[in-house]
Amino acid sequence: MVGRTEDGAAGSGETVCVTGAGGYIASWLVKLLLARGYTVHGTVRDLGEKKTAHLRQLEKASENLKLFKADLLAYDAMAAAIVGCQGVFHVATPVPSGKITDPEREMLGPAVNGTTNVLKAASAANVRRVVVVSSMVAVEIDPKDWPKDKIKDEGCWSDKEACRNNEDWYSVAKITSEQAALEYGKQTGLDVVTVNPAVVFGPLLQSTLNTSCQFLVYFLKGGPDQMRNKLWHIVDVRDTADALLLVYEAPEASGRHICAPHFISARDLLDLLKSMYTEYPFMSKESICDMDHPAPMTSDKLKKLGWKVRSLKETIADTIEFCKKAGFLEDVAGNPCRFPDIYNKI
Ligand SMILES: NC(=O)c1ccc[n+]([C@@H]2O[C@H](COP(=O)([O-])OP(=O)(O)OC[C@H]3O[C@@H](n4cnc5c(N)ncnc54)[C@H](OP(=O)(O)O)[C@@H]3O)[C@@H](O)[C@H]2O)c1
Repeated sequence: MVGRTEDGAAGSGETVCVTGAGGYIASWLVKLLLARGYTVHGTVRDLGEKKTAHLRQLEKASENLKLFKADLLAYDAMAAAIVGCQGVFHVATPVPSGKITDPEREMLGPAVNGTTNVLKAASAANVRRVVVVSSMVAVEIDPKDWPKDKIKDEGCWSDKEACRNNEDWYSVAKITSEQAALEYGKQTGLDVVTVNPAVVFGPLLQSTLNTSCQFLVYFLKGGPDQMRNKLWHIVDVRDTADALLLVYEAPEASGRHICAPHFISARDLLDLLKSMYTEYPFMSKESICDMDHPAPMTSDKLKKLGWKVRSLKETIADTIEFCKKAGFLEDVAGNPCRFPDIYNKI
């Protein structure tokens, strides 16, 4: 089958662009798209073996995956990857694990101006729909006028000023770029939908450990850092890829989509891990500081579109199994495990 189905839904045979194709979430999305018969234009910043081997090895990649070298800030390079596509999945954004010292250069510029570049190129190429990957950080951080005990849905927005005052530049960038993307859609008529994933765990396709999986590795290995007993929302990377394709294909999808099916406090997560494994040193319970828990988020909107998810235990077991085999759980001499700074800001 090529192109649209009778009810107007997208289908295999289409060509779609995935920005930041080599990243953790994007590489699973590329794998899924290729398996479903899509042709994929993937953008990467570096076409070298280290950054792209995991993409080139995917089934059907040799016929249906074309990689383009493009930085988010280079409009012409992004546009060259998007021309000829019916859809765009805008996934690329920096996800730093260390402290941000130059917020404009490291975060806000690529996230916000990069999103604008992708949207403009999508309009110029007459793309049918753009799926923008936002984050739970655009939903749940100190929302104004949202009662603490009310379940958070897609109507809930994080307080950007509170994030700015806290120097939480990742969240400022994600809120600003999601708002800009939705506004761009309203102003121009481009069909823009957004997805707001929680902390993403699950096996990796690439050879380097991404920031969100470092979160889980810290629970097992421990280290010098403290964290808050926050109510963490979690989603599997494979379920995230499914959600992105679902909102692309479903004609009725519109606006935002919270993608955060599981939630657990930091202390309960540590207890769960200890009940599943005995062979790790684990972080100390004392380094988890008390914190109140406002009401969680709901992913009902995605579920109503037919989204199904794995259990939290399955996701954790698959992540840890993968990390163990990949050597990510081994100690590196002189290099203590660190809890990514981003998670003490958000
Ligand atoms: N992982 C999570 O827990 C989580 C949760 C919610 C939302 N998200 C969102 O999901 C998306 C993907 O995150 P991820 O976890 O998969 O992280 P990741 O593996 O670090 O992927 C980020 C991607 O963005 C690319 N990128 C960064 N700066 C760029 C620039 N200036 N120009 C072009 N590409 C650039 C990276 O390319 P290089 O390889 O060249 O650096 C990489 O491919 C992001 O939008 C993130 O905000 C992630």
